[in-house]
Formats: sequence, C-alpha cells, structure tokens
Amino acid sequence: MALAITSSTSIAFSSSSSSSSCTEQGFQLSSTKFPHSDRLHLVSPATLNLSRKRSGSVKALNAEPRRSDTIVPSAATVFAPDVEVKPVEIEDFETLAKDLENASPLEIMDKALQKYGNDIAIAFSGAEDVALIEYAHLTGRPFRVFSLDTGRLNPETYNFFDTVEKHYGIRIEYMFPDSVEVQALVRTKGLFSFYEDGHQECCRVRKVRPLRRALKGLRAWITGQRKDQSPGTRSEVPVVQVDPVFEGMDGGSGSLVKWNPVANVAGNDIWNFLRTMDVPVNSLHTHGYVSIGCEPCTRAVLPGQHEREGRWWWEDAKAKECGLHKGNIKEETVNGDGNSEVHANGSGSDIFNSNDIVSLSRPGMENLLKMEDRKDPWMVVLYAPWCQFCQAMEASYVEFAEKLAGSDMKVGKFRADGDEKAFAHQELHLGSFPTILFFPKHSSRPIKYPSEKRDVDSLMAFVNALR
Ligand code: ADX
Ligand code: SF4
Repeated sequence: MALAITSSTSIAFSSSSSSSSCTEQGFQLSSTKFPHSDRLHLVSPATLNLSRKRSGSVKALNAEPRRSDTIVPSAATVFAPDVEVKPVEIEDFETLAKDLENASPLEIMDKALQKYGNDIAIAFSGAEDVALIEYAHLTGRPFRVFSLDTGRLNPETYNFFDTVEKHYGIRIEYMFPDSVEVQALVRTKGLFSFYEDGHQECCRVRKVRPLRRALKGLRAWITGQRKDQSPGTRSEVPVVQVDPVFEGMDGGSGSLVKWNPVANVAGNDIWNFLRTMDVPVNSLHTHGYVSIGCEPCTRAVLPGQHEREGRWWWEDAKAKECGLHKGNIKEETVNGDGNSEVHANGSGSDIFNSNDIVSLSRPGMENLLKMEDRKDPWMVVLYAPWCQFCQAMEASYVEFAEKLAGSDMKVGKFRADGDEKAFAHQELHLGSFPTILFFPKHSSRPIKYPSEKRDVDSLMAFVNALR
C-alpha cells in the first residue's frame, strides 16, 4: 500500500505538464499514456474473491481516494517508509486498443480484470449489458458490478437487478443520487422537467454525479457501449481508452481507464450470446424495449426503428448521451483560418453554466488585471468549451463555485479561445486549456493554479492557502 501511495504520488506530479490540457491545435501531447502501477500482486486472492460474497468487505465504490487529494506537499514525505519504489509502468492505451481490436469480448474482459483486480468494476444498466457480467463470470476471475440507481428506473429493471444478483451470487454496488440535489431539482422544476428543458440537468444529478463518485474509487471501469448502439455518437468507441472525461482514484485527467469489451460486437450477436448461454434478461425486452434507461425517458421501439429512438425521443438525436459517455460526442468547430477541427464536446454549447460562476467579458478581465473593482479575491478559469479537459472539470468547478457562493470569494470564467487567445496568452499566462488563475485581493499579479488535480478539494485547498 505504501508503495502504491509513494509511486502514484510521483505519477501525479511527473505527468503534470503533459497529459491533461488542450491547445487550440488539439489536445496537448499524449493523453493516451497512462502511468499506473500494477497493484495486483499486492492484493491477496482472498481479498480479490469478493464478488461471490455477500459480505460488506468490498471497498465502497465511492470511498475516498487512497491518498490525500491535497495539492500542498504534506509531511507524508517525512514519514515515507523505507521501501524500494518500483519504476512506473507506462502503458499506451491507443496501441493496446489497436492490439485488442480483433480480440473477443471474453479476451478483453479477461485482460481488464487481470490488470486491475479489485480496482475495476462493470457499469451495469440493467439491459443487455448483462452480457458483460456473463463474460466476467466466464473468465473465472473475481469481478465487481455497480449500477446507478437514478430512482426513476422501471420496476422491471429493479426486479432484473435482483435476478442478476441471485443468478451470479453477487451484490451489485448501487450508487444513489444526492438527496439534497434531487430535492432541489424536483422542488423547483417538478418531476418531469426533462420534457421541458432537456434531460441534461436531471441526468447530471441522478446519473453523472453518482457515476463520478463511483469512479473516484476505481482505476478502471467496464461499459457495455457498442459502436452500433448510436451511429451518431458511438461509432468510434475503442475497446479500451484513457477515460476522456472522468477521473479515477489517483485524481487528475488520465487517472481512469475505460474498457468497452463489446464495442465491436453487433446487437444481434450480443443477443445470440445471451440466448446461447441462457443468461437472464430484463423482461422489458419482451415488450419491445431495446436500449433501456429510466422509465420516463425510455420507450419501446417498433420493428426497424433504431434502438436509440427509444431514448429521450423528444430531443435532437445528436445529443442523445446522458453524460455517462459524453466524451463520445464530437463537434465541428471552425478556426479563424477557415479550417474545421473536430473536438470532443459534451453539450455543443457553452460550459461552466451556473448562477455561481460569473461569465467575464474581455473588459471584465482587463478590469480584474488592473485591480479596478476588485474588492474580493477571484478565481477564474480560462477555458474553451470544446476542450475535453475543460469539460472534465466542469462538474467540480461548478460545485466549487456553489461551495463558495455567499463567501468573500468570487468565481468566474473567461472564454479564452478564438479572438481572445492572443490576449490570454500575453496577459493571462494562458498555456493550454484549462488555465486556472487566482487573483488575490491585495495584489495585481494573478497566481496560476499549478496542479492537474481539478477536484473540488484540491481547488479549495489552493484557494484556502492563498486567501
Ligand atoms: S446511456 O448513457 O445512454 O444511459 P446506455 O444505456 O446506452 O447509456 O448504456 C451504455 C453503458 O453505459 C451500459 O452498458 C453501462 O455500462 C453504462 N450505463 C448506462 N446506464 C447505467 C446505469 N444506470 N448504471 C450503470 N451503468 C450504466
Ligand atoms: Fe432523469 Fe431521464 Fe436522465 Fe433518468 S434518463 S436521469 S429520468 S433525465
């Protein structure tokens, strides 16, 4: 354990300039090199054989990361145990994905479980992705399964979860939304606000934030995404990738790996597999449902209709990702020189939208620099909405702003791409996106946030150390 702590801390700092920022030209350097330590040999087989037990010994998915999230170097170095630090293994996941492109789902699943042991879990929606559980079972290795219980699933799906638990002798690790957040949403906007103003807000509260919590307790996760599920958004899903959006237990972009063992399998072949292996399935499938999500947002499709037409049918087909896999969505942007670039973009629109975040214009930024009207300290993110690393820190920055609302600290954002890029480079130390600046109350010089760790606690530690 000490070894893991020591080496992962050095990973976080050694990768600081290379892996989690965007430039106007695209993503800076290689985001596919993910350093990690192979911890399997540190875990006893008894600890690994957890999914067969009904005991509570499984480390909770939303457990705190194993080391402190603070960015301030702590006294931990003083007490560093006298152990040899193993060299960090660097894995190129783009190459691994190519190597595994023609591998069977069973082989991919086996590789994933073998590599990550207890630090990986299957994300199970209660639909035909039960195939993942069957594959994991067939490997003979221990495995973990989690499901996001949004509170709005169909009764059939809850029954199916129970059937699956009994069939495989496992406990599904359910993740629930934050009750205060659900209350706030439902009390202000009602139970069906998604029909009025889109599913993103409800999905953020009921699915994405609980998923973010779950993933903070892992180094890798396994999904049932398939290329043929959504030609608009999933046609390029690789069998394995550094997660473009979420963070794992070590924190920072690049700290989580996403496995998609059935990416290349056609829906028909999944069903042939389920039938052949006599796997239990959700009874909704016999009523014409193919893709299954929450009850109010899912409906049966007719023969010949694409499965995605049964999800959020009142919305534009392009936006049919609820946020769990928003790294899939791509948007074309046109540069000043007229060339178009493709960037990952979860929403197709602006980001960091919150009443607690002030959107600063160029004159606003110039005023901040001149110290005019600066009665309070400010934290400002320089961002580009198409940058996947900006998107990845959106939820934590919004939460950070929420926490500081009403305090003497102001939180802002400044869109620094396009016409503002030169100004931002020259005056605001913009190197790559996102750049986070702290403007102290009594000084004209902004201080650049030095870390790649963009979780709420790290941002808060930075601010508290300076204000
Ligand atoms: S969604 O983003 O549109 O809801 P979809 O239903 O296609 O996703 O499922 C794709 C994969 O996302 C699933 O195979 C599963 O890995 C994960 N997933 C979706 N919904 C859930 C859920 N409620 N709990 C856990 N994982 C989920
Ligand atoms: Fe809410 Fe519908 Fe999203 Fe479920 S799928 S979280 S009910 S918007």
